[in-house]
Amino acid sequence: MLKGLIFDLDGVLTDSAKFHLAAWNNLAQELGINLTSAQLDSLRGISRMDSLNLILHYGNQEDKYTSEQKDKFAEQKNEKFLQQVQTMTPQDILPGIFELLRDAQDAGLKMCIASASKNAPKILNKLGIADQFDDIVDPATLHRGKPDPEIYVKAQELLGLATDEVISFEDAAAGVEAIKAAGQFAVGIGNRQLLKQADYIVTTTKELKLDEIMAVFAKGPEESR
Ligand code: BG6
Ligand code: MG
Repeated sequence: MLKGLIFDLDGVLTDSAKFHLAAWNNLAQELGINLTSAQLDSLRGISRMDSLNLILHYGNQEDKYTSEQKDKFAEQKNEKFLQQVQTMTPQDILPGIFELLRDAQDAGLKMCIASASKNAPKILNKLGIADQFDDIVDPATLHRGKPDPEIYVKAQELLGLATDEVISFEDAAAGVEAIKAAGQFAVGIGNRQLLKQADYIVTTTKELKLDEIMAVFAKGPEESR
């Protein structure tokens, strides 16, 4: 029986993913690396340092910088990202999300955030929805980033629920992979091809309807695909 929902943040509750990607693209260009759109897309859901390392890998610059220099680059990217976060308001909650959270609360479901972002609490405050969640996984406590299941397993533990009692929401391929590796029911939001591992896929958050998702969840992951 469904008892809880677990949400990625960037690209699911709000479109902060575009700010992350713009800030990374900016840094990459400063380092003389031109990312293709597929390379840029592959950064979705990936932790800060893993993203930087991936960019340096794409630019064949893996061994070019010391770890101090890399820390500076990551800090530089974060400052750019935070400038955008400052402009965020409740208007930046993606379409359909407010209703989804309201319906989940009415249904008595517990809710947790499973975001790789250290800025998640700040963003939730700007959106005015921080108090709607029972828990937020602290990414600093994690050993491995998405697509490793650790963050989704942790979220489920924080809620005190079993694998078959939760539904998890993601916009990133790495995130859907993490949810499935955790053995949970995955809702993918975005490109159907990229997110094909998910149990339920919508193109945009507007299409997220709790009763419809719950009906598919009730059938079990195998039959729903
Ligand atoms: C994820 C984003 O939620 O958080 C990634 O999808 C981002 O793009 C990662 O790199 C880490 O975020 P932050 O805010 O800690 O740099
Ligand atoms: Mg995301």
